[in-house]
Amino acid sequence: MLKKFLLVGLPLLAVAMMSFAAVGQVTKGKSRPLLTKQLMGGLVQPNCKSLGAGVKEAPADDKAWEALATNAALLNEAGYILMADGRCPDAEWAGAAKTLQECSAVVLEKIEAKDVEGAQGAFKALTASCAACHKAHKKSN
Ligand code: HEC
Repeated sequence: MLKKFLLVGLPLLAVAMMSFAAVGQVTKGKSRPLLTKQLMGGLVQPNCKSLGAGVKEAPADDKAWEALATNAALLNEAGYILMADGRCPDAEWAGAAKTLQECSAVVLEKIEAKDVEGAQGAFKALTASCAACHKAHKKSN
């Protein structure tokens, strides 16, 4: 009985688990309504755009620095939303989300230090996360 389970059951279980992992939600989480498309269009893209434009030259005043800090912090949060609610399908997704989390945190540090060149460099690294995840998981490019 046990031997039969080990011979037949375990490989079946392994296959079932692998296909379960591959099913990952991608376009939506498991229980919450937010579509990945909405997350991208409503949160990720606008904050990425403002941040990218804002670190091109030194912000004019504290208000402008604050706005950039908001952009970076929201992108950081988006990195965690991407990993929540069963949305993540695989290691490539997880790696890109981690890059987004980590690089946005560095951007934020540089902004807090009012280091615009440092922020620019970290922002460039951040955008690698968009490309990596889209290459693997975004269908129409
Ligand atoms: C971990 C994965 C992942 C990361 C990281 C990621 N995206 Fe996406 N993005 C997706 C997926 C998946 C789609 C396609 C969603 C769909 O159409 O269902 C998408 C779609 C988009 C779209 C199209 C939205 C639409 O209305 O069709 C934009 C714009 C976008 N992403 C911008 C970005 C930017 C900018 C970054 C980096 C700051 C980024 N994304 C990082 C997974 C990711």
